[in-house]
Amino acid sequence: MNGEKILLGVSGGIAAYKACELVRRLRERGAEVQVVMTENATRFVTPATFQALSGRPVRTSLWDEAAEAAMGHIELARWADRIVIAPASAETMARLAHGHASDLLGTVCLATDRPVFLAPAMNHLMWRNAATTANVALLQSRGFRMLGPDRGEQACGETGEGRMMEPAAIVDALAKWPLRSDRLAGLRVLVNAGPTLEDIDPVRYIGNRSSGKMGFAVAEAAQLAGADVCLVAGPVNLPTPAGVRRIDIRSAAQLLAVMLAEAPGVDIVIASAAVADFRVREIAPQKIKRGPEGIHLDLVPNPDVLAEVARLQPKPFLVGFAAETENVLEYARRKLAKKNIDLIAANDVARPGCGFDANENALTLIGAESQWHFAQAGKFELARQLIDRIALCFRSRS
Ligand SMILES: Cc1cc2nc3c(=O)[nH]c(=O)nc-3n(C[C@H](O)[C@H](O)[C@H](O)COP(=O)(O)O)c2cc1C
Repeated sequence: MNGEKILLGVSGGIAAYKACELVRRLRERGAEVQVVMTENATRFVTPATFQALSGRPVRTSLWDEAAEAAMGHIELARWADRIVIAPASAETMARLAHGHASDLLGTVCLATDRPVFLAPAMNHLMWRNAATTANVALLQSRGFRMLGPDRGEQACGETGEGRMMEPAAIVDALAKWPLRSDRLAGLRVLVNAGPTLEDIDPVRYIGNRSSGKMGFAVAEAAQLAGADVCLVAGPVNLPTPAGVRRIDIRSAAQLLAVMLAEAPGVDIVIASAAVADFRVREIAPQKIKRGPEGIHLDLVPNPDVLAEVARLQPKPFLVGFAAETENVLEYARRKLAKKNIDLIAANDVARPGCGFDANENALTLIGAESQWHFAQAGKFELARQLIDRIALCFRSRS
């Protein structure tokens, strides 16, 4: 956990005092901890205590102008490698389950694609209540991870399930889900992401709906797995992941040129960019004027970037993406065979809540002999799982 950035959410339960020890233990392991308290949590423990323990000003409100100016709630969400909420009250979990953004913690949790861990703490009847059970099931189905609760004597004097896990046990459990690994240590990985835009004239272009989020998450996950990562990005509005070298391109032709220049010597190429299949034969030098007649665009096929990279000798380990809206697995398998690539991640962009510009995705990774399904999850979480699998396939290739 050394150097990891953990956003610790503290909600209003009697176990808030245990979160103080959790901050101390996380920092002992080398993590940076930013505490965000719900308003009710401040009735149990003062922000001053957490500030002293974490060494950072505590955030308690969405409406703190000075704090927002320093690090806005979206930046706060982006800052965190992962979010841990301990204690997670019944109320906070209900809000999270239903996507409320009425306070800072809820807003940050909506604005992240990082893993969120919940350490519930409440009276055993509250924990067993059907409403809480349903909320927990919903949260788990969306990728939230539960830490506990434990069973035992409770602050209310009763005994049962609902005690917050002990801070030391929480830290151990978190350490089992390491974000940083050495799965790709010593390897060079080239990732491409985002759309390509094909100019029609100086003001218009043909584009597509790729946001680049999946590819950026893949680049970040590869970097966290120890790789030396170069990210070739189409025009997107995303920050460069820390430690990643980025090259911006616009058109498919530019993408191809950069890929062919960068790929030699690279171990793994992960091609998630949505490359335009066609471009206009000639870009008009001036803006095309509106007139009574329609116009016909003369489109010519673009080079097949992935197939060109697959021709390199020695050929890097190639992972493609197939964004489809129908017959997803079948089309992806055909692409795998036709283009001489090692793995293909099939992506059903028509699935509700997934695909282009969504924060979540679901993928099936297909190899010549095996396939692996990755259930719907935040794109960063999915990228992490994908990178783990790609690393295993790369290391065991013949
Ligand atoms: C003394 C006291 C102890 C409480 N302990 C808990 C608790 O352990 N777990 C819980 O879910 N709610 C507990 N509550 C109720 C929450 O504080 C209440 O639901 C609150 O609205 C939670 O707000 P928050 O989730 O925004 O922090 C307690 C309330 C009081 C007054």
